[in-house]
Amino acid sequence: MKIGVIGLGYIGSVTAAVLADQGHQVTGIDVDSNKVKIYSSGEIPIFEPGLKNLIVKNRERISFSTSYDTIRESDVIFIAVPTPTSNGSIDLSFVEQAVDSILEVNKNSIIVMKSTVIPGTARSIGKKKGIHIVSNPEFTSEGTAIQDTVKPDRIIIGGSKKQACNVVTDLWEFTGSPIVVTTNENAELIKYASNSFLATKISFINEIANLCEVIPGSDVDIVAKGMGLDKRIGKRFLRAGIGYGGSCFPKDTQAFMDFARSKGTPIKIVEAASEVNDNRISHAIDLVLKSVNSARSQDNKIAILGLSFKDNTDDVRESQSLKLIKELVKLGFQIFAYDPVVKTSISGVKQCASIEECVSLANTVVVATEWDKFRDIVSLVKEKKVVDVRRILDPGEFPIFFAVGFGNAEN
Ligand code: UGA
Repeated sequence: MKIGVIGLGYIGSVTAAVLADQGHQVTGIDVDSNKVKIYSSGEIPIFEPGLKNLIVKNRERISFSTSYDTIRESDVIFIAVPTPTSNGSIDLSFVEQAVDSILEVNKNSIIVMKSTVIPGTARSIGKKKGIHIVSNPEFTSEGTAIQDTVKPDRIIIGGSKKQACNVVTDLWEFTGSPIVVTTNENAELIKYASNSFLATKISFINEIANLCEVIPGSDVDIVAKGMGLDKRIGKRFLRAGIGYGGSCFPKDTQAFMDFARSKGTPIKIVEAASEVNDNRISHAIDLVLKSVNSARSQDNKIAILGLSFKDNTDDVRESQSLKLIKELVKLGFQIFAYDPVVKTSISGVKQCASIEECVSLANTVVVATEWDKFRDIVSLVKEKKVVDVRRILDPGEFPIFFAVGFGNAEN
């Protein structure tokens, strides 16, 4: 088929590459000419494992442009533009612009909404513009985006026109994943309910972590392991830490809460999860201060390992690590930072070229992102103090150790 993808962020670019790999002719559109130039040259402007290879492998079937003219002939057009939250509510202006621009050049394609939108959006935009929109929310995580797209746990398709839904169903049939075809509203709700549930699961374990810290001898990692072995609970998204960040959970929970409140049925559990998450930074600071003030003399040089919102990505949107750094700088600490892929200048922070350099310059080492390479820092750290706000280290290996959810005697 001829496929158009509007928006070349993490989701759009991966959707384009995966569908090209399935033999479709794909055109990716973005308003950012620089981004389009980079993709056209066979490079990628983001760090996403496997994406560059997939695009290069399929270069015969994939092209990039800033012009909607190139999707005049497309049979199916995916919208994967941002839906930011502005003043707590969802901002649909990019989605509306994309729909208008598509309709200027192509009135016959099947329009598919991949962007996360509040329930009722596809139907109401469809009504306003005199078209039908198929909802096809994504459940792709950054860092594992290709495998999540090729082999997702499920495909959700929403719409009221059977034929259009069938075309989209056929497109994703290759995944072999269960496919649920339903209304637009259910599809939109499934997306928000899923992200909000996962965010709530994280906040739940973070609350248990707080409790563990005041119970000497307890450890949230073991509690989570014991809980997660119950198949009804499951072990994923039960890692306690510095709280969730990224471009999805914080924004989507806000938009969902706002939507639910506007309907007169606030979702209290998500409100609580969000509040718990907001408190994670001050909690991490408390741990750093405990460490700094513990044993030997006080010190003010801190190494921060990891800047992105999670491992395997260079995305720093809503990064808890950056929020922590900002607060520590305000408190007057000297910060040395290292990240395997993020290279960004942060005021008051010296970025180091290696973990070795970063650790050597500081007295306290904070593990702020769960990159695998940070698991193996024992020999570098030696007698330095360690604060693990991601729970990737073995507490027994460090002489002075503070961590989220770890009830050691000094805590
Ligand atoms: C999330 C969802 O997992 C995807 O299913 C969804 O498609 C995507 O949002 C989206 O809506 O576009 P993503 O934001 O890429 O994906 O990252 P996650 O892996 O979900 O992590 C989110 C945050 O939660 C990160 O800061 C991560 O470090 C944190 N986290 C995750 C924890 O603190 N503990 C955990 O156990 C899991």
